[in-house]
Amino acid sequence: MQVLIFENKQKVAFFAAQLFKELLQLKPAATLGLATGSTPIELYKELVKLYEKKEISFSKAASFNLDEYYDIDEGNRNSYRYFMNSMLFEKIDINLKNTYLPTCNQYQNPGQQGKHYEALIQECGGIDLQLLGIGANGHIGFNEPTSSLASRTRIKSLTPQTIQDNSRLFEKGESQPQLAMTMGIATILDAKYIVLLATGEVKARAVSDMVNGSLSANCPASALQMHPNTIVLLDEAAASQLKNKEYLQWVANQNESIVKKHGYFKDL
Ligand code: PGA
Repeated sequence: MQVLIFENKQKVAFFAAQLFKELLQLKPAATLGLATGSTPIELYKELVKLYEKKEISFSKAASFNLDEYYDIDEGNRNSYRYFMNSMLFEKIDINLKNTYLPTCNQYQNPGQQGKHYEALIQECGGIDLQLLGIGANGHIGFNEPTSSLASRTRIKSLTPQTIQDNSRLFEKGESQPQLAMTMGIATILDAKYIVLLATGEVKARAVSDMVNGSLSANCPASALQMHPNTIVLLDEAAASQLKNKEYLQWVANQNESIVKKHGYFKDL
């Protein structure tokens, strides 16, 4: 796990956007794993800017989102499809037909839908770069604490904390789903590269459990310790509880010359 600490969230987003640019230059038909939530919004704005400057194209790319609420209409402004279309897909040149979310409605079998999503990812050659946020409770996707580290795409109940954390996005009177379909932890670990973004003090504890804590289903993000190509991008507030910041900075400095020469995606 490589950890890079930046002054603020804009710099985190800028760096993450450069990673997407580098990947798409190397592999225009890349399969991207995407995320929703407040954290990636700055990154999506950067990607739109790069697209408008003609520095990046998604025309041959495909995308798979981490999660989607169970039984939500895609036109509902709280659906993750709506979020992705309005924040990113409608502002860039990706073919909407190549953008996937793990949907499931009340008439569909969640087990079959999960299997179908896994198969679609495989058909597209697997995920090249998976974007992640992290919950204040250490979740990735909607893999809440105690999720199996071997899990695959499936239906999950959200924890009261996650429901509370996300309630800010729902207006009075709107019903807030308590179930979601989510890629599993094993699905996420199959990605060739992972970039996790965390900003703000509210994430500091989860970040330190992920980086300094032991591998445990109680902090699902700690599973990333098992992944060979994960880059964690933090602002100073999210990094504030890390134990070994000087060492992490030393490693980042050592890596810089290799990255300059070979780039981040040297095994792609
Ligand atoms: P947030 O969510 O970006 O809205 O904080 C992150 C997550 O829950 O994965």
